[in-house]
Amino acid sequence: MESGVARATVWSVSTLITNIGELVTNAPDSSGDSGRPGPGAFAVIEDAALVIESGRVAWIGLAAQAPAADEVTDCEGRSVLPGFVDSHAHLVFAGERGAEFAARMAGAAYRAGGIRSTVAATRAAPDALLRANLRRLTGEMLRQGTTTLECKSGYGLTVADEQRSVRLAAEVTPEVSYLGAHVVPPEFADDPAAYVDLVCGPMLDACAPYARWVDVFCEQGAFGADQAAAVLAAGKAAGLIPRVHANQLGPGPGVQVAVEAGAASADHCTYLSDTDVDALTSSGTVATLLPGVEFSTRQPYPDARRLLDAGVTVALATDCNPGSCFTSSMPFCVALAVREMRMTTQEAVWAATAGGARALRRSDVGHLGVGARADLVLLDAPSHAYLAYRPGVPLAAAVWQAGKPVPGGRLPSSPAVETKNS
Ligand code: NIG
Ligand code: FE
Repeated sequence: MESGVARATVWSVSTLITNIGELVTNAPDSSGDSGRPGPGAFAVIEDAALVIESGRVAWIGLAAQAPAADEVTDCEGRSVLPGFVDSHAHLVFAGERGAEFAARMAGAAYRAGGIRSTVAATRAAPDALLRANLRRLTGEMLRQGTTTLECKSGYGLTVADEQRSVRLAAEVTPEVSYLGAHVVPPEFADDPAAYVDLVCGPMLDACAPYARWVDVFCEQGAFGADQAAAVLAAGKAAGLIPRVHANQLGPGPGVQVAVEAGAASADHCTYLSDTDVDALTSSGTVATLLPGVEFSTRQPYPDARRLLDAGVTVALATDCNPGSCFTSSMPFCVALAVREMRMTTQEAVWAATAGGARALRRSDVGHLGVGARADLVLLDAPSHAYLAYRPGVPLAAAVWQAGKPVPGGRLPSSPAVETKNS
């Protein structure tokens, strides 16, 4: 490994990351609402530096004014962003559905029912296999710059298998969502109401200690408005915060259910009415868009511009799962958001960092203001725009999580051709 990344292995000391061509901070302007915790609007500092101490951002500003530190990493004019916040992923599962994807690409439609094949494989899998899959995917995410991730259950659908899923998810993240209401499992096909009772009762009791969130797939073929509202209300009573899979496969009540429950986020938002957009605008519910799903299911992309122009807070996430979208890559989602949903590069990067933080109600991540967790991605590129300009290229050269360099990071030994300061 090269220079500063290798040297900064003792992270209790202060580390100066300097010669940053473009530092995306998303930090509130010092002339404006300074001191406000959490992410602000998209914001950058050019020719910047940042100091990490005790896992937090201790200082940001112009490189020329940077204080001394114990360790120094020279970014040689490259871009540094806050770590990506992937607020929607389904990572506890066994098996794969590559043939289902291939059939879709040959013309078949995506159906929520495919979830049941993953449920069967997951139930049959030992803990060790589920844990190995989970760690492989979270490792993949981290190396691509995702430093905060949410992880759902939803492929167990028995009390024991759902509890196992949230327990395993809690090994890798505090952002665990209980998704017992993913679909009605085959053994309850004749009595979905009894399954909702299970989800709201014994299954919730078994899962709530491991989860922060309660999620429901509110869609035709999954759960209707009343069922979804009941699941969210039960989850809230158990101390969980709602989030909803809403309006993915067609128009429906998902967004309204989410807003009425005070959900942190309504996810997918592919088919929205004007009433849905109005409800999101006048609520604190974030619209989390998952363009990898539309890529992988050949559905129309959500209308991000309509949401942004209406003033809705938009987040981007992967939805990494074996069925509707098997990417773990936030950079890929940023590229799709820019090319296919007409988000600007600034909007897309903000949505993938600060937007994800809003969707998870986190003020310590998604930005690089003083006091934020020192989650950083160093791109092998001079600006954030390269995430969409060079799609499919592994641009995350080095990643820091809570101030600690992620193993395998690389700092090229000579400046890239295009860097601003070369
Ligand atoms: O977010 N929509 C529901 N759940 C997942 C898909 C899961 C699957 O197909 O296995 C989603 O797209
Ligand atoms: Fe999902």
